[in-house]
Amino acid sequence: MEDERDEMPETADTSTDATAAETANDGLATDLARTAEANKGRGAQKVERKAKRFEVKDVNLYYGKFHAVEDVSMTIEPNRVTALIGSSGCGKTTMLRSLNRMHELTPGASVKGQVMLDDEDIYRANVDPVEVRRLVGMVFQQPNPFPTMSVAENVAAGLTLNQRGISKSDKAEVVERSLRGAHLWDEVKDRLDRPGSGLSGGQQQRLCIARAIAVEPEVLLMDEPCSALDPIATLAIEDLIEDLKGRYTIVIVTHNMQQAARASDSTAFFNLEATGKPGRLVEMGPTQEMFTKPGKKETEDYVSGRFG
Ligand SMILES: Nc1ncnc2c1ncn2[C@@H]1O[C@H](COP(=O)(O)OP(=O)(O)OP(=O)(O)O)[C@@H](O)[C@H]1O
Ligand SMILES: [Mg+2]
Repeated sequence: MEDERDEMPETADTSTDATAAETANDGLATDLARTAEANKGRGAQKVERKAKRFEVKDVNLYYGKFHAVEDVSMTIEPNRVTALIGSSGCGKTTMLRSLNRMHELTPGASVKGQVMLDDEDIYRANVDPVEVRRLVGMVFQQPNPFPTMSVAENVAAGLTLNQRGISKSDKAEVVERSLRGAHLWDEVKDRLDRPGSGLSGGQQQRLCIARAIAVEPEVLLMDEPCSALDPIATLAIEDLIEDLKGRYTIVIVTHNMQQAARASDSTAFFNLEATGKPGRLVEMGPTQEMFTKPGKKETEDYVSGRFG
């Protein structure tokens, strides 16, 4: 099965021919069924830690006067993988960055609406945005290890900021636990003191995931974490995501329809009515439904590759 997945194209079939698009959809449905079957055994052994749920209510996001995302309400379930999909510029990254208050780091950017993380509104006055970003970690499109830091220092970078008094041995323990959690320990345990930038792209991305989980977040946001990776490294990250969802709430932005179908439980489709208009959430649902019988034609056209 893994071999078949390696050969899949990066994006959905872009044919405008309905039959070809339906065939592409059937392929996805088959892939989904296989994935579900393969996951059955794996899921049974997992011990889930209760992570946190997001309730996004009437969120509008702006860059200065530009209205980038309009009226989004959605629930992001704990211990599940939620994929955000949609064409370029529809606001996926903007939406993702509003979930850990990174959006407001852009000068002039603003947020209206409410983002509840369990029973806490992360935008309430007195809530510390630095603590929000610890609870809601982020992994970016391009792996971005700190180039002058060693592998171990990269993993511990967030700890140093958050827990200044941490002892050396505690730090070593967190580094090992995080690298094991990111499925990277065996590959780097003999080079912990070497520069993080000396790792391969896929290893660097897992290093960034180790860095994100070292500070014990509740949620992991991932913005196209595999777009710079080859198919083997991509599958390694997807396996890792599947493993991590037992402990975290995961939100992943992806342009790769097969990846959304394989790796997520829920899918949220964003779209733009027209250029210059704000992006909006068209619909959200269980991934299998979104890819096989979505509620809206707009979604069907996108997931079957008729536009986007
Ligand atoms: N820093 C910024 N300042 C002004 N406008 C921005 C900024 N970042 C994004 N935008 C605009 O906000 C809209 C949404 O952008 P965003 O990056 O969220 O889209 P996206 O769905 O992630 O696209 P892609 O798939 O290409 O990554 C776009 O019109 C974009 O040009
Ligand atoms: Mg983006």
